[in-house]
Amino acid sequence: MKKIIIAIDGPAGAGKSTIAKKVAALLGYAYIDTGAMYRTVTLRFLESGLPFSEEAVTAIAEKISITFRYGNGVNRVFADGEEVTDAIRSLEVSRNVSKVAAVGGVRTAMVAAQRKIGNQGGVVMDGRDIGTVVFPQAELKVFLTASVEERARRRYLELKEKGTEVSLEDLEQRIAQRDALDENREISPLRCAEDARYLDSTSLTIDQVTEKIAAMAREVL
Ligand code: C5P
Repeated sequence: MKKIIIAIDGPAGAGKSTIAKKVAALLGYAYIDTGAMYRTVTLRFLESGLPFSEEAVTAIAEKISITFRYGNGVNRVFADGEEVTDAIRSLEVSRNVSKVAAVGGVRTAMVAAQRKIGNQGGVVMDGRDIGTVVFPQAELKVFLTASVEERARRRYLELKEKGTEVSLEDLEQRIAQRDALDENREISPLRCAEDARYLDSTSLTIDQVTEKIAAMAREVL
């Protein structure tokens, strides 16, 4: 059976990573979380203490080696061999990542790394520009979204489970802000590819969405 590329794009908190992980497991594919890559560059930039500049973040993106390792359902992320799985999920990183991801030099470096990882096929890659820029030739493209209220509610429950207290209103506002930055940036803005399947998960369960995407994959396999 041929090994295809499945691109799952959509706004923050739409459930892309949860779903992509499940679809990858069902098909025996690798799962690549491209948001984690932009988050890792952002983390290293924040740690550097440097003032923000395109040159500073581009230099980090060009040098860094980001790798993934899977085990027990956890997608572990490493920057130059050091584990950053939890550190890249901090509110501080979330607050700054869209600014870093809007820089052309950062995107060029990340897109090159993503193409290298995925070009053999057999991958489910999630992000914002996978179907439009990274792999416009992907055999299956899905644009996964949900209402901003529902996405904030899901993130709220996720954070609460981890013991992080945040207000729902605050989260909703931050998610809407991140959407606006991602949708309105000049380079590779978040948008649904013309040939992507649009899937609104607002009133669907994780299993229902997984099944829908798995069915779409079976159609093209
Ligand atoms: O997917 P996640 O919410 O972790 O992504 C974090 C941020 O990284 C996004 O808000 C976006 O600014 C950026 N990103 C991107 N292109 C991708 C994946 C993520 O610009 N392919």
